[in-house]
Amino acid sequence: MKSLLKLETLSLADMEGILSATTTLKAQRGRHTSQPLAGHTWALLFSKQSTRTRISFEVGIRELGGQVMFLSSNDIQLGRGEPIKDTARVMGRMLHGAVIRTFAQQDVEEFAAYSGLPTINALTDDEHPCQILADIFTFQEKRGSIRGRTVAFIGDGACNVANSWIFAAAKFGFELRIASPSPFQPPQQILRRAGGRISVTSNIQDAAQGADLLYTDVWISMGKEAEAKDRIDTLTGYQINQELVDLARPDALVMHCLPAYRGKEIDEPTLEAHAGTIFEEAENRLHVQKAILSWSVS
Ligand code: CP
Ligand code: NVA
Repeated sequence: MKSLLKLETLSLADMEGILSATTTLKAQRGRHTSQPLAGHTWALLFSKQSTRTRISFEVGIRELGGQVMFLSSNDIQLGRGEPIKDTARVMGRMLHGAVIRTFAQQDVEEFAAYSGLPTINALTDDEHPCQILADIFTFQEKRGSIRGRTVAFIGDGACNVANSWIFAAAKFGFELRIASPSPFQPPQQILRRAGGRISVTSNIQDAAQGADLLYTDVWISMGKEAEAKDRIDTLTGYQINQELVDLARPDALVMHCLPAYRGKEIDEPTLEAHAGTIFEEAENRLHVQKAILSWSVS
């Protein structure tokens, strides 16, 4: 039994094992011989909205032989103040695993500790590990090993998605360039913890030059809506568009975790020109998460 709480603490061996199992699960969709979640009931416990993560986990758990219940935090007593550790101890006696999307990283870690269940981080304010594993799988499916390549992250470099890219970089051995205005650059402490080849700049052209992958995420992450005006004012210009793509390698990929806000972090023509990659990236959430679920119960 294993939990996926953050990429910071996930070993390269585990990540490579998950990505390798993903290739098989994707190729064999609909013809799986093993049902590692047979007899299981898993909970999806979400305190934030979701399209991709919710659907891919619900479908993935069912395809691996398990049953799934979706619980918004407001559906249960957690939303009225019941502590995480009590919720976790109840769920731990009835369920077989949990997938959690919430605000504080500490809450997912506390749930895992008190429930004793395999627990998967489906996005916190600190990390979005399933997303970045699916992103790396997508890159490698199209371009081969990410080791030695250059990834340029454009936009809010201090968000959960950027953090998971930061913790993946040293382990997978790629160069990561983060282009963000200073209020949205990653804290030094996170860069120190991650190590590896990571540079931070406010110049998007410098970051994109010769890159193998241009990547972006929303400017206003869930929970940051009160800062919307300031964020838009400060992040304007930190956009993936054709002018930026022209600076990257001719075969560079453009990826976005979605949802996308056209005219902000990416423009409409660029998103549509790279829709084949971006929606395959979204589909790969399903395949990667089936590999994560299988790993978690192994
Ligand atoms: N990328 C991602 O996690 O999307 P959702 O918020 O729709 O789950
Ligand atoms: N950084 C974004 C990711 C959405 C999938 C958020 O937290 O809202």
